[in-house]
Formats: sequence, C-alpha cells, structure tokens
Amino acid sequence: MAISAAVVFSSILIFSAFSLGNALSLNHYVKACPEVENIIKNAVTEGFHKDKTVPAALLRLHFHDCFIRGCDASVLLDKDENNKVEKSGPPNLSLHAFFVIDNAKKAVEAACPGVVSCADILALAARDAVVAAGGPNWDVPKGRKDGRTSLASDTLQLPAPTFNLSQLQQSFARRGLNLGDLVALSGGHSLGFSHCSSFQNRLHNFDAAHNIDPSINPSFAANLNKVCPAHNKVKNAGSNMDPSPTLFDNTYYKLILQGKSLFSSDQALFTAPSTKHLVYKYAGSKEAFYKAFVKSMIKMSSITGGQEIRKHCRKVNS
Ligand code: HEM
Ligand SMILES: *[C@@H]1O[C@H](CO)[C@@H](O)[C@H](O)[C@H]1NC(C)=O
Ligand SMILES: *[C@@H]1O[C@H](CO)[C@@H](O)[C@H](O)[C@H]1NC(C)=O
Repeated sequence: MAISAAVVFSSILIFSAFSLGNALSLNHYVKACPEVENIIKNAVTEGFHKDKTVPAALLRLHFHDCFIRGCDASVLLDKDENNKVEKSGPPNLSLHAFFVIDNAKKAVEAACPGVVSCADILALAARDAVVAAGGPNWDVPKGRKDGRTSLASDTLQLPAPTFNLSQLQQSFARRGLNLGDLVALSGGHSLGFSHCSSFQNRLHNFDAAHNIDPSINPSFAANLNKVCPAHNKVKNAGSNMDPSPTLFDNTYYKLILQGKSLFSSDQALFTAPSTKHLVYKYAGSKEAFYKAFVKSMIKMSSITGGQEIRKHCRKVNS
C-alpha cells in the first residue's frame, strides 16, 4: 500500500482553533455527494502510481490557486482566444498533474453531477497528495466555489524565490497568513523539483560583494553550480528540493540548518529569531512540523473567492 497515513490528527481540535470567514464545512457534501472524498483519493492514488512527482505538483497547484484570487480553481483554467491565463505566467514552469484533476472531476461528475467545485477537488487532492507522499492526514473543510477569471499577470503576485523575509511576510500577510504559517507552509518544499532559474541568483553575481550567496553551504553551491552554470542552456536543468523529493518529511528544515536549501526564500526563514526558532523546532520534530503544517494548510485553503460550480475544471460555465 503506497499510502501511509502516518499521523492522523484530531481534525476537530485543529478546525476549531480559528474561525473561517466563509461557509466552509467538514460535512458540506455529506448529502449531495457522500463518496466525493473516496473518488478523489482514488484519482490521486492512481496518478501517484503512474508518476511519483504527482504529489508535489498537486500541492504546488493548490498553493498557487489559493494565493491568486483565493482557492477558486483559477489556476486550472485553460486559455481561450483572448485570454492569457495563470497557467501561461512565468512561475508556471513546474505546474503539472492537471490530468489527475481532470480524472477526479470526471469521476465526481459521474457520481454527483454539478455539485462539487473544482476548487474543492484541488484542495482535497492536495491533502491526498501529502498523505500519498507519507505526510500527515487531516479533514478538509469544503464548500469552495470556482472563479471565472484567470490572468497570467496575476502570477506576479506570487512570492518569488528571491524574496527576503520581510517580502515573504508581506506576501503572506496579504492573504491573512502570518510568519508561523510561512515557516510551516514552506515545508511543502520537502517535495518536488526546481529549475535552475529559481535559485540561479544565489550562484552567480549574488550581490556587489559576493559572487555566491554567503549563506549557502560552499560544497552544496559547488554541486548546484555543476548542474546550473552561469548562462546555463540545458532546458529543464535543476535540482530536487531535497534528497527525498517524493517523501513528505521534515528534511527541509534540517537542510536550512546546514545552508543546503535551494531558494533565498527558504534560507530567509533563518534570518530572524522569530522564524529561526521554528526552523529549529521543525528540524527537531517531525510531529511538531506536521501539526503546524496541517493547521496552516487549513488556513491557506480556506481563503475563498469563487462564485460557481464549474462543469469542466478547465473552463468557466457558459
Ligand atoms: C514561501 C514562498 C514560496 C516561494 C517563493 C516558492 C517558490 C517556489 C519555486 C520557485 C518553485 C520551483 C519552480 C521551478 O523552478 O520549477 C517551487 C516549487 C514547489 N513549491 Fe513553492 N514556493 C513557496 C511556497 C510554497 C508553499 C506554501 C507550498 C505548499 C504548501 C509550496 C510547494 C511547492 C512544491 C511542492 C514545489 C515542487 C513542485 C514540483 O516539483 O512540481 N511552495 N516553489
Ligand atoms: C509556462 O509559461 C511559459 C512562458 O512563461 C510558456 O511558454 C509555457 O507554455 C507555459 N507552460 C504551461 C504548461 O502553460
Ligand atoms: C528586503 O528586500 C526589500 C526589497 O528589495 C528591501 O527594501 C528590504 O530592505 C529588504 N529587507 C531586509 C531585511 O533585507
């Protein structure tokens, strides 16, 4: 069994720890689509068996969705004749696994047509992805609506990997997320892969005084430099986020302690006492990381914004 629900938290406790602005609830589909969670889990499990990078892709898709116009499945929309959508914005490089959402939506529509939003499917799929990768399990509040707008230019509002701590803090605060959420959610970088372009800034012409970022471990930088030389021409060259890119664990924080995280934005968590102590805490305890991650995921995935239940996740209702 590929899925190891390593830790199952008491979702009730977490859920009541803060209030939700919108009408999301744990039992939203109990009457209208009782099998929805099993159907989505099956689609994610199937996708995972085909491609071990599916969990990373689904988790990042959900993050991008929630950070732009709220979790409204805007990230899933394909472009029409006159519209450049989020998918075509610069940070889209590693967005993939859309096929998993397509399969899930198809199966959900067959069981209960017209009642389950694509935004909820993505939120549930992100949770199932974390579970499939060996991470924590939790109950996802549901009842999101799908949006009707997706703009490539909106992706400029996503935090950049070159951001320092105050820039990250601002970006998260705009979505009602605090520094604790930033540190916990950044642990999503336990999964997946990054292209050279996302950490190139640390390896070449870093600043006026340094060619290489002084906060990066020198031998780690030398290894990255082999894969990502200046003016690198190899398409899709890059690095795994950590040595176990398909396993959701707390290695990410241990790497920060060693100066072996990929992005400036990752290492930035180690630049102020308030976030540094959380990095130490999560490096030392997978359980503490899981608990914080679940709490912040529920918070992030409760930023709502849409207005309809889409029939197809790739296009708005006509
Ligand atoms: C804190 C601000 C964040 C920044 C600046 C950031 C930036 C990035 C960048 C640049 C990449 C690599 C893109 C590429 O080169 O292909 C990436 C990948 C990824 N990010 Fe983030 N991210 C942030 C937060 C998050 C959060 C909150 C999550 C989820 C909880 C997340 C999950 C992921 C995952 C799973 C990948 C790997 C995707 C894949 O392999 O397909 N990130 N992120
Ligand atoms: C991602 O964006 C680039 C340009 O920024 C574009 O060429 C590419 O087709 C996009 N990829 C997807 C999957 O939409
Ligand atoms: C972070 O970057 C911004 C924009 O470049 C800059 O104004 C600010 O001083 C930086 N903050 C720190 C703490 O380095």
